Amino acid sequence: MPSIVVVGAQWGDEGKGKIIDYLAKYVDVIVRYNGGANAGHTVNIKGRKYVFHLLPSGALYSGKTLVIGNGVVVDVAQLLDEIRTVEEAGYRVNLILSNRAHVVMPWHKLIDKASGGKIGTTGRGIGPTYTDKMWRKTAVRISDLISRNFRDKLREILKLKEHELKHYGIIGDSVEEYLEEVYSSLSKLVEAIKPYVDDVSLRLNEFLDQGKWVLFEGAQGTMLDVDHGTYPYVTSSNTISGGACTGAGVPPTRIDVVLGVAKAYTTRVGKGPMPTEIRGEIAEHIREKGGEYGATTGRPRRIGWLDLVVLKYARRINGFSNLALTKLDVLSGIKTIKIAIGYELDGRKIDYIPASSEEYARVKPIYVEFPGWRDISRDEWREIARSGVSTMPKEAIKYVNFIREELNVDIAIISVGPSREETILLKDVFNIKEWGRY
Ligand code: GDP
Ligand code: IMO
Ligand code: MG
Repeated sequence: MPSIVVVGAQWGDEGKGKIIDYLAKYVDVIVRYNGGANAGHTVNIKGRKYVFHLLPSGALYSGKTLVIGNGVVVDVAQLLDEIRTVEEAGYRVNLILSNRAHVVMPWHKLIDKASGGKIGTTGRGIGPTYTDKMWRKTAVRISDLISRNFRDKLREILKLKEHELKHYGIIGDSVEEYLEEVYSSLSKLVEAIKPYVDDVSLRLNEFLDQGKWVLFEGAQGTMLDVDHGTYPYVTSSNTISGGACTGAGVPPTRIDVVLGVAKAYTTRVGKGPMPTEIRGEIAEHIREKGGEYGATTGRPRRIGWLDLVVLKYARRINGFSNLALTKLDVLSGIKTIKIAIGYELDGRKIDYIPASSEEYARVKPIYVEFPGWRDISRDEWREIARSGVSTMPKEAIKYVNFIREELNVDIAIISVGPSREETILLKDVFNIKEWGRY
C-alpha cells in the first residue's frame, strides 16, 4: 500500500506536473493537498499542453481517482472549467472534492489583486481565503456552499466584512445587492459541484486500507511554505511533505515515500530573496530555452544557479530520500555552470537559511564551477532517455553525481524535456519493485 508525496524542493515550478503525470501511471489515486489555483502544473502529452491549477496532474489518464483535499482553497468556477477541458479531450474525470475545503470567494480575488503587490502574489485570492479560514467567522467551506442555508451564511459573512469590502470598493451602497450578485453567481455552480463532494480523509484512508496506491501532489515549493519558506515572501499554505497529512487527513504513519522535485537550476516568480539569482545573457538564455514564464500568470521567472543550501534544507524539512532532477536539458550549451554550496553573510560563512528575509537577502553564494556540455537536440535527448543515463555527456553525469553526493539522496528520475518520453527512470521510486506493479 505505498503512498508517495511529491513535493517541490525550491520556489515552485520545478516540473512537478510533468513528474506527477509520469508517475500517475503506477498509482490509483492522485491528491492535491495545499494551495489553490495559484499553482500551474504543466503536462505535455501527444503534442498538447495542459496546465492544471486545481485538478490533480494525474487527470490525463481515465480511471484514476482524483482528490482535492481539505487543505486546498477552491475556486469553484476554475475547477469546473478544468474538468470540462479534460473531459472534452476525452478523459473521464473521477473526482472527490473535500467537504472541508475552503472556497475562494469573488472578494478574495479582488482583495488579492488590490493588495498582493508587495509579495508579488498570483492574484488568485489565496492569501485572503486562508486568512478567512484562520479567522473562522468569515470563511466559506464547500459544505457551506452546498448547504441549504448558504444565503444566510453569506449574509452573516457580509455583515462582518462590510467595512473591509467597502474599503476596497467591492461593495457599493447596497450590501443586499452585492449579496444577491455573489449568491446568484455561485449558486449556479452548486449542482455541478455537488456530485463530487465527499469526506476526503475517510475515503483516502479506505483506499489505503484496500491497498490502493496513492500519490500526494504538492503545489508550490518548500521555500514558499508559510512556516518554512522565505517569509513573508511565501504563499499561505504548508507546501511541504507534512502538508499532505494536514491537507488530506492522512496520518504521517501512512506516508511511505517522499520524492523531492528540483530543477537543475533555480527559478523564482514573485518577490523575495533568491541568493543565486543571475541576470544577463546566461539568464536570458535559460529563460528562453526553458520557457521560464509563469504557468499561471505568464510573468517571466527569475533565473539562478542551483542552490544546494536550499536543497539540503528542503531534504531536511520534507524528509525526501529520492530526488527527481528536472530540466537538465536546459543547461546544455552553457560553457561554465555553477552550483552554490554555501553562503557568506556579512563576511561569515554559513550553511543555513536565515529566518529573516532581510538577512537572507544579504547572503552571497559560494560557488563551485563545472564545465558545461555541448548543445543537444530534442531528438538526441529522446535517444538518451531511451538508451539510458550513461549515454549522457560525461560533464552532465558529473554534474548530476555531484548533486547526488552532496545531498546524499538517490536521484530517482532525470527529466530532459517536457514530455513523458523525455524521462530517465534510474530507480524504483516507490522502493518496492518486488511488489510487482512495475
Ligand atoms: P510545476 O508547477 O512544478 O508543475 O512546474 P510548471 O509546469 O509551472 O513549470 C515547469 C515547466 O517546465 C513546464 O513548462 C514544463 O512543461 C516544463 N518542463 C518540465 N520538465 C522539463 C524538462 O525536463 N525539460 C524541459 N525543457 N522542460 C520541462
Ligand atoms: P506551482 O504549484 C511558483 C508564488 C507567487 C508569489 C508567492 C505568493 O506551479 O509550483 P500567492 O498567489 O500564492 O499568494 O503568491 O508565491 N507562487 C508560486 N510560484 N509556483 C507556484 O505554484 C506558485 N504559487 C504561488 O509568485 O511570489
Ligand atoms: Mg507551476
